Amino acid sequence: MNQFKIKQLVDQAFTKNNLTKAEITALLKTELKDLAYLIEKADQKRAAICGNQVHLRAIIEFSSYCKQNCYYCGLRKDNKEIKRYQLKKEEIVKTAQMASELGYQTVVLQSGEDEYPAQTIAEIIREIKAKTKMAITLSLGERDFAAYKLWREAGADRYLLKHEIADRSLYQKYHPKMSYENRIESLEYLKLIGYQIGSGVIIGLPGQTPEILAEDLLLCQDLELDMIGSGPFIPHQATPLKASKQGTVAMTLKFTALSRLLLPLAHIPATTALGTIDVEGRQKALQAGANVVMPNVTDGKYREQYQIYPDKICVNEEAGDCRQCIGGIISSLGREVSQTKGHSLRKD
Ligand code: SAM
Ligand code: SF4
Ligand code: FES
Repeated sequence: MNQFKIKQLVDQAFTKNNLTKAEITALLKTELKDLAYLIEKADQKRAAICGNQVHLRAIIEFSSYCKQNCYYCGLRKDNKEIKRYQLKKEEIVKTAQMASELGYQTVVLQSGEDEYPAQTIAEIIREIKAKTKMAITLSLGERDFAAYKLWREAGADRYLLKHEIADRSLYQKYHPKMSYENRIESLEYLKLIGYQIGSGVIIGLPGQTPEILAEDLLLCQDLELDMIGSGPFIPHQATPLKASKQGTVAMTLKFTALSRLLLPLAHIPATTALGTIDVEGRQKALQAGANVVMPNVTDGKYREQYQIYPDKICVNEEAGDCRQCIGGIISSLGREVSQTKGHSLRKD
């Protein structure tokens, strides 16, 4: 695509937040080196909507048990090579309190699709709410709808559930025994009962085309997401996709920039996966539309066991180290760590 056409499409996305599937596809097919204008306008939109503030979300990876078998993930049930762990209620609450003391305004409780009792999760939510002022995001995969409701009533603010890939047949292929429909219905239900919802994709799964990624972006618009994330696929040796090619930094940045223009009010993370495949990955995303970073606050001794993909950054660090490191990254970009909870910017 020539520069005149790129400028025309980016300007349209910037002013109207709207592009067709064919237009998004054409931009995603264009090489990143020719898309400086897209990145610049996404950064400009981020500055206009979010200002200089970067929101930090502290992640507690509280259980690596998982009953699912997602083809790409190192925590999949059939991976017998890893040692599994599950934190107790008291440990989770204590870690959350420590995150609050480090200045975090949001805690994300994340796990594999564990059978952690729904009632215990509700108690954890209530205790964290009683002991800290933090917002709570859940990222526990799919559970029954009664559990979603129970946790919302207990005080959870947000739910993060990536739809991963907006192509039914590839979704079914990579998620045995799971259902694309249930994934989407879960997101719709979560929104209906008052959660702020986050979803998104893995960039670079085998068979994923720019056309599919364009569908992903249109789906994210339809779902009226409060948060949209995209992380590159990183092959893990103990999974069926071990020999597949890694997702690229370039496609992740294009997707991030288009997310900002098509969903201007969304919170957009600079993902840990991007920071894993490129030491400057999170910095690049923060300059291409992203306004959120999700540092790990899990106790160091568990980090190595939460091996979604190999060589994950921060495995040898502790919560305080990551907080300091992220602070440095953010100020090096002339930005500031937000002192607010960073709730959804969507006005209902
Ligand atoms: N079990 C929950 C779920 O699946 O929603 C939450 C935890 S899961 C580990 C969080 C995210 O990790 C998934 O949404 C997926 O996109 C990402 N992930 C898993 N394996 C990955 C890989 N090999 N490369 C990049 N991202 C991966
Ligand atoms: Fe389990 Fe989530 Fe990994 Fe799938 S992506 S195997 S549900 S932890
Ligand atoms: Fe963990 Fe940089 S964010 S060391």
